[in-house]
Amino acid sequence: MGLLTGDALWTLGVAVAIFLLLVDLMHRRQRWAARYPPGPMPLPGLGNLLQIDFQNMTNSFQKLRFRFGDVFSLQLAWKPAIVLNGLAAVREALVNHSEDTSDRPWMPVYEHLGLGPRSQGVIMATYGPAWREQRRFSVSTMRNFGLGKKSLERWVTEEASCLCTAFANEAGHPFSPRTLLNKAVCNVISSLIYAHRFEYDDQRLAKILDLLEDLLKEESGLVPMVLNVVPVLLRIPGLPGKVFPAQKAFMALLDELLTEHRMTRDPAQPPRDLTDAFLAEVEKAKGNPESSFNDENLRMVVADLFTAGMVTTSATLAWALLLMILHPDVQRRVQQEIDEVIGQVRPPEMGDQACMPFTMAVIHEVQRFGDIVPLGVPHLTTRDIELQGFFIPKVVSGPSMATAGGGGLACSSLNSQSHWRCLSQPERVWEAEEQPGQPSTTEPQGAGEVG
Ligand code: HEM
Repeated sequence: MGLLTGDALWTLGVAVAIFLLLVDLMHRRQRWAARYPPGPMPLPGLGNLLQIDFQNMTNSFQKLRFRFGDVFSLQLAWKPAIVLNGLAAVREALVNHSEDTSDRPWMPVYEHLGLGPRSQGVIMATYGPAWREQRRFSVSTMRNFGLGKKSLERWVTEEASCLCTAFANEAGHPFSPRTLLNKAVCNVISSLIYAHRFEYDDQRLAKILDLLEDLLKEESGLVPMVLNVVPVLLRIPGLPGKVFPAQKAFMALLDELLTEHRMTRDPAQPPRDLTDAFLAEVEKAKGNPESSFNDENLRMVVADLFTAGMVTTSATLAWALLLMILHPDVQRRVQQEIDEVIGQVRPPEMGDQACMPFTMAVIHEVQRFGDIVPLGVPHLTTRDIELQGFFIPKVVSGPSMATAGGGGLACSSLNSQSHWRCLSQPERVWEAEEQPGQPSTTEPQGAGEVG
């Protein structure tokens, strides 16, 4: 067979280029739909990947919001994405169209950790029976071990007391509270999952925190985004382990803790924690191939609760401390309310919240101001929807609908000085949130604004 040369090679090149362009156009055909949200012009093959600063996505989205408005579109290689900004758009999508937007885009980058059809965890689970089963289980177990019941409350107050002692030990010289806050929050989550708290000088606790910090860095930036949209790259032998070493080490550590925990479990006794409750469900589900209660999924659920609960909560607490330092007048009013309602003798209880409107308003304001998950977690549309006058199609090939709740431009209004001044009139915050039919302005998405 002769080699292709000259004209033949040129013709073949043009044919391949036309073929690739057609495939590319096929993948972005949604953009031609009437009333599809506007967005920056994508490049063939790459889409808008080179137009976004993946180290500072909030800033990139803020600039795009200025140009295109609250609802704009992106093309991530071949995957279309819609970014929503501001309370109205986010609420319309996640509340009015909750059924159509509750799905999650599939994340191939987690497959090497064990994410699979029967082990989807809870955060990234696709909308369906497993999604429902795991959310119900997580919420009901947290209720049984916590929220409203004594046990989680006890764990939290005992941990708070250890944290205060550790802070007191630092008295007299400046220190960063971050590590201690991380340790305390990690202990509360560990109590819920393993009924176990670590001493603050435990090496394994330090390792969990280090790995969590490293894995969050691994998950940001361009590389995971590219691997998610071009998952075939993940098949390169050894690549996932090289790109995500902290994720792998974190899962290995959780596995170690789970194995130890199983050894002390007595199935005849009531569950001590979420892991025991999950294992009881695994036993009940034996022989049911549809069930999401299996050993592989337990690892994913535990990893999800650690990663979702840890940094979010400790970063919120760090913001609270900073804002109290910056606003001593507010700090004084909170302390006054604490002294009046709780006093200095007994620990606080969940029930105290109802009698502490100023403190609750401050907590809500801290969450709004901190805005610590500005881009939220991506959602996926499972049906065509109308949103703020735009048409958002259901796209079978897996588009993601990113929700920049408090993110994008909304950050600037949440973080504005005028907002913080609401604290001098906490009643405003309180009243705004008590209006019947009014949205909570402190959804974790940070989508809140108080008039
Ligand atoms: C101040 C603390 C927290 C903040 C700001 C926060 C924020 C968020 C956000 C923005 C989402 C995505 C919601 C969406 O689907 O759009 C989320 C989901 C989730 N968070 Fe949190 N979170 C916090 C604390 C926690 C804690 C303590 C836990 C558990 C230990 C937790 C477990 C979860 C889970 C399981 C999901 C997935 C739920 C779902 O997909 O329906 N979070 N959180």
